[in-house]
Amino acid sequence: MARRKEIYTILAEVARRVTPTPAERRQVSGMAEELRKRVEELARERGVPAEVRVEGSVAKDTWLRGDADIDVFMLIPEHVERREIASTYMEIARESLRGYPQTERYAEHPYVEAQLTPTVKANIVPCYRVKPPRWKTATDRTPYHTEYVRKKLRSEKGKKEVRLLKRFMKGISVYGSDIKVGGFSGYLAELLIIHYGSFLNTLEASSQWRRGEFLDVEDYFGGRGEEARKLFDSPPLLAVDPVDRHRNVASALREECFHFFREASKRFLHQPSRRFFYPPSPKPLAARRLQEALARRGGYLLFLKLGAVKAVPDVLWGQLYKTEKALVRLLEDFDFQVLRSAVWSDEASNSVLVFELEEGSQGGTVKHLGPPVLAGEEENFLAKHLGGRNTVSGPYIEGGRWAVLVRRKYTDAKTMLRDKLADGGRSVGVASRLAETIREGFNLLASGEISRFYQQHRDFAAFLTRFLDGKPPWL
Ligand code: UTP
Ligand code: MN
Repeated sequence: MARRKEIYTILAEVARRVTPTPAERRQVSGMAEELRKRVEELARERGVPAEVRVEGSVAKDTWLRGDADIDVFMLIPEHVERREIASTYMEIARESLRGYPQTERYAEHPYVEAQLTPTVKANIVPCYRVKPPRWKTATDRTPYHTEYVRKKLRSEKGKKEVRLLKRFMKGISVYGSDIKVGGFSGYLAELLIIHYGSFLNTLEASSQWRRGEFLDVEDYFGGRGEEARKLFDSPPLLAVDPVDRHRNVASALREECFHFFREASKRFLHQPSRRFFYPPSPKPLAARRLQEALARRGGYLLFLKLGAVKAVPDVLWGQLYKTEKALVRLLEDFDFQVLRSAVWSDEASNSVLVFELEEGSQGGTVKHLGPPVLAGEEENFLAKHLGGRNTVSGPYIEGGRWAVLVRRKYTDAKTMLRDKLADGGRSVGVASRLAETIREGFNLLASGEISRFYQQHRDFAAFLTRFLDGKPPWL
């Protein structure tokens, strides 16, 4: 019971911190409406049809204080061609945000993003105005999402619960459905609150989630999760979209984020703390302490450092993760035990893949076991190793099996990677854009050799400090 009280005290405090003040609310609504009008005006001037609306968390009143994200959508009639969207409509989007630092984002769908003030971001997003389920692009469902959430989440209490959940998810780093995070989208957080009723109910439920959890807010499948699961390929969480029963709202949710959220929910209910919502920002180790920390752990860290990659963030992160996986496999194929790996990027001119190995070098000889003698299947084994160029001893019989000692091609992980990446590394699974960058040059650094880069890049230093620490801040 004391724990309940503690939880309520924390939630009341967090609720105060995430609820916009009336003044901020006025400021953000004002900016949103002004931007909406400007886009509308520009479309009219150019004589192109568009219904311009404020969507997303500002329209749903679920944005977090000090962290507003204004989504202005241009709803475009179906007959307009896609290339018209990429040209005229994108020009309107850029023009409407003129004077602000902009980034253009193209994953599968183009849109423009800009920082209006240090605490207010804006997106101008084109989409088609279609009747469900005739979706033409990924963003066409958004106006329906906004409408659905506004209808289902009318009370201040409900919106507060959403804000608590979003803040919790941000605090434990599982908020955002971009490729980098692979977490929960704002809309998914809203659906969870609509479904479970409150922040605490959601945490109680999620701490019991099973892999493949089925969430059908509108009960389209009448509880027949199996039927729904057949439509999707076994995601960790299946959340049927109330505006489209063929869509899983959690399709971008990565396995690790699913488990991370589940465990954090459970831990919070057992041991409530503000740290879940507001983790202390990690202080990077001083450079001199870094050397000590690396020496103390005894393992071997290998850093692959790359320059600028020509790709938008979603593509970049997808390629970094894919390449990370491929290189872990490669290292393991050459008998290097990979303990852990991770990637970091400033999304501009530097990306780093880090591999923690049990050892960076290994003996020059390895034993390969062949088939059991009695199996009578030794032909291939013998043909391969008898008098082979790398054979050191054997083949011989040991304990009823054929065996052979062969010379390892690589005793050093760094040398191996350098060789395999020399041509860009496409054949060992490096993703295309990264391979282009690698062909222009790359650095392989072992353990302490990273310290200069570490000193020059604060964000990397924070990342590496967290990586070395390894444990989530709330644990
Ligand atoms: P946002 O990511 O901006 O979400 O997407 P949000 O609800 O406004 O939450 P904030 O900004 O993080 O507070 C805007 C809309 O795009 C659609 C949803 O309809 C969302 O409301 N969307 C976005 C998705 O359907 N799936 C996604 O993965 C991302
Ligand atoms: Mn938004």
